[in-house]
Amino acid sequence: MRALVLEGNFGIENLKLKDRDVPKAGPGQVVLKMKAGSLNYRDLATVTFGGNPALLPLVPLSDGCGEVVEVGEGVKRLAKGDRVAPSFFQGWISGGPVAEQLGATALGSPIDGCAQEYMVLSAEGMSKAPSNLSDEEVACLPCAALTAWRALVVEGNIKAGDTVLVQGTGGVSIFALQFAKAMGARVIVTSSSDEKIERAKKLGADDAINYKATPNWEMEARKLTGGRGVDHVVEVGGADTFPRSIMAARVGGHIAVIGILSGLTKDVNVAAIFAQNLKISGITVGSRTQFEEMSRAIEQNDIHPVIDKRFPLDEAQEAFRLMQGASHFGKIVLNI
Ligand SMILES: NC(=O)c1ccc[n+]([C@@H]2O[C@H](COP(=O)([O-])OP(=O)(O)OC[C@H]3O[C@@H](n4cnc5c(N)ncnc54)[C@H](OP(=O)(O)O)[C@@H]3O)[C@@H](O)[C@H]2O)c1
Repeated sequence: MRALVLEGNFGIENLKLKDRDVPKAGPGQVVLKMKAGSLNYRDLATVTFGGNPALLPLVPLSDGCGEVVEVGEGVKRLAKGDRVAPSFFQGWISGGPVAEQLGATALGSPIDGCAQEYMVLSAEGMSKAPSNLSDEEVACLPCAALTAWRALVVEGNIKAGDTVLVQGTGGVSIFALQFAKAMGARVIVTSSSDEKIERAKKLGADDAINYKATPNWEMEARKLTGGRGVDHVVEVGGADTFPRSIMAARVGGHIAVIGILSGLTKDVNVAAIFAQNLKISGITVGSRTQFEEMSRAIEQNDIHPVIDKRFPLDEAQEAFRLMQGASHFGKIVLNI
């Protein structure tokens, strides 16, 4: 079988297709024939920014959709023919989070990910796919969609009438826009591109701010809410955006801290956090139980992930370069 392997060193140019043996299912495991995968910014970071060379060789991609083709001894919850999405955190089933459920159990680093034709995993580490979605659409869910779901629904307790500010138009943010609209919220989107703003409005965004043309977008967001501030910020920008997100939020508002697109560290006005009685949630994706709750909402509301572009597995380098250029809107898919 073919597997996309990062070998030798970090860098998109070091992603190569390799022949590997088709794995066998041990007790408690299933073998998946992978149909599709999708890219997340984390995959780009894993491949390009380097890290621990001891992790190489590595198969990237936390996100995918596969069909169960072999079931190991003792597996009850899945059967041959089931269409599933592996969990981002293979070890986080429910409750938590506690440390043992997180980093070491993540697909795509350190555990070999979904960019391969077959993979073997614990049956506990996957969920059945929402029935209304194609294989490619299912492959968009595990990281980006669950992160947006947890940010707004699990930690944010979003309710109809809330105002949500989503930053940019990448994978997490477009899912946040779709979930917020499904929950009856108002959405303000920020983007560097007027063309992307028009696309976001077609998806239901109520208001938009071009953060290049209006660098102090937090003041504009306050204006759009009559001075009150937004109820939720889906904070993917990191260093440059977090101080502004504090000012965009209403008293008692919620900031889901998710991303680092503009960097890791910045001075923060701590007094503004307590003066505004803000709730700040650090988010790392979510559990299998939360994924299954999200899947029900996706089915009930017939929500379809927004796919910018699809690539065959042997053009994976181009897919990573598209993400690096940040011209995409929503998700980038690899057909496996
Ligand atoms: N903590 C977690 O569990 C978790 C899970 C998923 C993702 N993340 C993180 O969340 C971030 C987004 O991930 P993703 O996969 O959705 O990325 P993505 O699809 O690559 O999204 C990138 C988009 O974000 C926007 N953007 C870039 N810099 C920005 C800035 N300074 N301010 C506002 N928007 C900006 C741009 O949209 P426009 O072109 O419209 O401006 C860009 O196209 C990454 O940092 C990723 O590591 C964290």
